[in-house]
Amino acid sequence: MASDTGNPAPGSTWTLAPPFRREGALGWIADLPAELHGLTDTNEEPYRSRLRLCQDGDAMGPSHASHDTIRRAGRGAYSFWIHALYFSTVDGSDPNTNYRSYTVTLSPPPDEASELDLKPKGEPVQWSMSERLLRCAIVGLGNRGLGLAQLARSFAGVEIAWVVDRSEERVAEAVRLFGRGVRGATDFALPLADPAVDIVFVTVPDHLHRSIAEPAFRAGKHVFLEKPLATTAADAAAILAAWRRSGRILQLGYVLRQAPFYAAIRAALCKDMLGPVRIASLTEQLDVRHGASFMRRWHSQSSQSGGLMVHKGCHDLDIICWLLDTRPRTVSSFGGTDTFAEPPPAQFCSQCDRRAVCPFVDTGLHERRTAAELADPTAYGLDRCVFRTDKDIVDNQVVSFVLDSGVRGTFYLAVQGPIRSERRITLIGDRARLDGIFEDGTFTVTFTDPERPPFVWTAEGRSHGGHGGGDRVTMLEFLNACAGRAPAPVTDAQEAIRGLVFALAAERARREERVVRLEEGDFALVP
Ligand SMILES: NC(=O)c1ccc[n+]([C@@H]2O[C@H](COP(=O)([O-])OP(=O)(O)OC[C@H]3O[C@@H](n4cnc5c(N)ncnc54)[C@H](O)[C@@H]3O)[C@@H](O)[C@H]2O)c1
Repeated sequence: MASDTGNPAPGSTWTLAPPFRREGALGWIADLPAELHGLTDTNEEPYRSRLRLCQDGDAMGPSHASHDTIRRAGRGAYSFWIHALYFSTVDGSDPNTNYRSYTVTLSPPPDEASELDLKPKGEPVQWSMSERLLRCAIVGLGNRGLGLAQLARSFAGVEIAWVVDRSEERVAEAVRLFGRGVRGATDFALPLADPAVDIVFVTVPDHLHRSIAEPAFRAGKHVFLEKPLATTAADAAAILAAWRRSGRILQLGYVLRQAPFYAAIRAALCKDMLGPVRIASLTEQLDVRHGASFMRRWHSQSSQSGGLMVHKGCHDLDIICWLLDTRPRTVSSFGGTDTFAEPPPAQFCSQCDRRAVCPFVDTGLHERRTAAELADPTAYGLDRCVFRTDKDIVDNQVVSFVLDSGVRGTFYLAVQGPIRSERRITLIGDRARLDGIFEDGTFTVTFTDPERPPFVWTAEGRSHGGHGGGDRVTMLEFLNACAGRAPAPVTDAQEAIRGLVFALAAERARREERVVRLEEGDFALVP
């Protein structure tokens, strides 16, 4: 029975003999031989035991059952706990008198033990100062531009050289924020012509991405391009073509890809933990105040944001393709504007009688404003009523899809609901189901095999920055590549564009009320 190490070998069996002590209505206790004491579950490791129980040679279960389940529900549930076996008989009979045999077998270690290590392979992404300074130009000095600038310059040897915005006030404030040596401009041509600039961050509204990214590549700069790549497939393709011609580094603002939560899900899929995936279900429920801010800002015009599915949903539609390494084939979608469809009581919040009671009143939250803009937002058109009638985006939308790999799925985006934004994901495979909540930084894999305990993954530490840690890793990958120390983070144009193509197809399907089938040509890039 013993292996070379002196421990019982897998396949070893032990027969349990009466007397068994009663434990509650349906439970029984058997004391275990000393050689099994180190093989049972404990408080510290409640799922470690590989001991299995059989009645007359047939496997019983579930194993690792709670003692309450064993006592009350019975039906063969059991638990090897410290020095004893807590069990129930399959038919509720008394094991002391039912003439059945009870044997214990040690099962082999699961060959998927390595599944439990979902850390990405290789060294964690780190930064050490490059041999020469990396100089950056930030184009678009809103919330995102300033946030990325602050993150970039937190790495030694990375400098903000230019700050650019169409607003002189924003430029002046950014120059004050980043200190002497930073040059400001309202004209993007200036940093573009500066040979000392290595990197351009594109953080202008979505429809303007091409107007900055394309010339930046042409001028030989590396580009951090915010998501969505653009608001049309043609613009995105033109940017990607310019990137490929330039030989420079491109990084995309699809920061969820680098968040440890999604990286761990991808690792679980790579290890085939779920078996073939059949169904994918994703949701994004936006904090209602965040959602309301889209109704008053440039996002409310689909000509500028591509619509909320493109602007916001592109993250989720990209991540599902990235996780499953595939692209969309067929897409249908429904959506509407329901919460923000009332007649506007006033044009601006400052002029509105309902401002004291309106849950959507302008607070400037989720935006960055200059002192002058904060003092008088109406003068800048910043406190527009969220019920304005000139907006053309929806406030809730559902997408159903079939991916090239055959996976079917759904995604919904809603700006209604609780103050906490929440992204959820469920993937159903032949071997297991995965359920996770991004904001909680945890997911659970529940296996089809009742003998296998569920696997729970939890992010280590929650304090590593925006987008569940994704912002920082995305930036590090990019800066390391620009410094020549790491491979380019984006190498495949098809992989870069598929999330946007997916989102645009969903918008088309919704507007035209039809199923959109994507063809090879929909992913084609301008040569
Ligand atoms: N990756 C993410 O998760 C994430 C998060 C937030 C925003 N974003 C993206 O970042 C970009 C910026 O978003 P934001 O929330 O900071 O918007 P914002 O409105 O706060 O900022 C945009 C800035 O661009 C400036 N601008 C507009 N037109 C310009 C032009 N022609 N030239 C120069 N500057 C111009 C505006 O004055 C403003 O300062 C968008 O593409 C958005 O989709 C990405």
